[in-house]
Amino acid sequence: MSASTLEQRRTEIEAYFDRTAMAAWARLTSTEKLGHIRATVRAGRDRMRESLLAMLPDALDTARVLDAGSGTGALAVALADRGAEVTAAEHSPALSALARQRAGGIRRGNIRFFVGDMNDPATGRFTHVVAMDSLIHYTPDDLVRMLAGFAVRTDTSILFTFAPRTRLLAIMHRVGKLFPRSDRSPAIEPVAEARLRHLLGTDPRLAGFRVARTFRVESGFYISQAMELLRQ
Ligand SMILES: C[S@@+](CC[C@H](N)C(=O)[O-])C[C@H]1O[C@@H](n2cnc3c(N)ncnc32)[C@H](O)[C@@H]1O
Repeated sequence: MSASTLEQRRTEIEAYFDRTAMAAWARLTSTEKLGHIRATVRAGRDRMRESLLAMLPDALDTARVLDAGSGTGALAVALADRGAEVTAAEHSPALSALARQRAGGIRRGNIRFFVGDMNDPATGRFTHVVAMDSLIHYTPDDLVRMLAGFAVRTDTSILFTFAPRTRLLAIMHRVGKLFPRSDRSPAIEPVAEARLRHLLGTDPRLAGFRVARTFRVESGFYISQAMELLRQ
């Protein structure tokens, strides 16, 4: 995908999260009661967030962490509570404002809210980057391009999630394409783990990193796979 198509995609994703899905995200990430399907998604996302946190050191007092595509900010708050200096980068002004409002009671560390592109070099340099479910709407090539953008600014590890291309997801994806575009979210771009590993392993921009741990979380309609890139 060319740089201008990537830019178009970013604009679409921002508009979707800033307006169309804003209320649904506020609710999904709150403690309000949900219907059965959404409750399984919330449970899966909670499990994913906890598992990502478990991959980082318990004490993050000297760490600078980028929460890339921070949404309503739950991960950023948990990272700050471990003492990290967190940058919560989110291009939806509405979600970023909600995250700021919800981040009231941090006991340690702190959070800087950056409204803009998570790949903007102006966000700074980091010990760790965590991108939970914020790269799933990008094509595999763009996903790798975003990771390469993080890589030049990351000293230790990049944790991210992707939508694994399973047979079931491939079918759902094809069926989804039969519906009119208007009220759909930007499509999720599933990628097979083997293809992703190949792209990561052969991209010279990621030569300084190797794939380490990976795990999948499945809960009802939520299927997401985490992957860790470690500087070598
Ligand atoms: C599925 S939500 C996940 C939010 C959060 N990481 C979580 O797990 O609760 C994806 C988020 O990534 C944000 N996002 C996607 N691309 C972005 C970009 N290029 N720069 C900043 N934010 C981005 C979206 O606006 C959205 O809030």
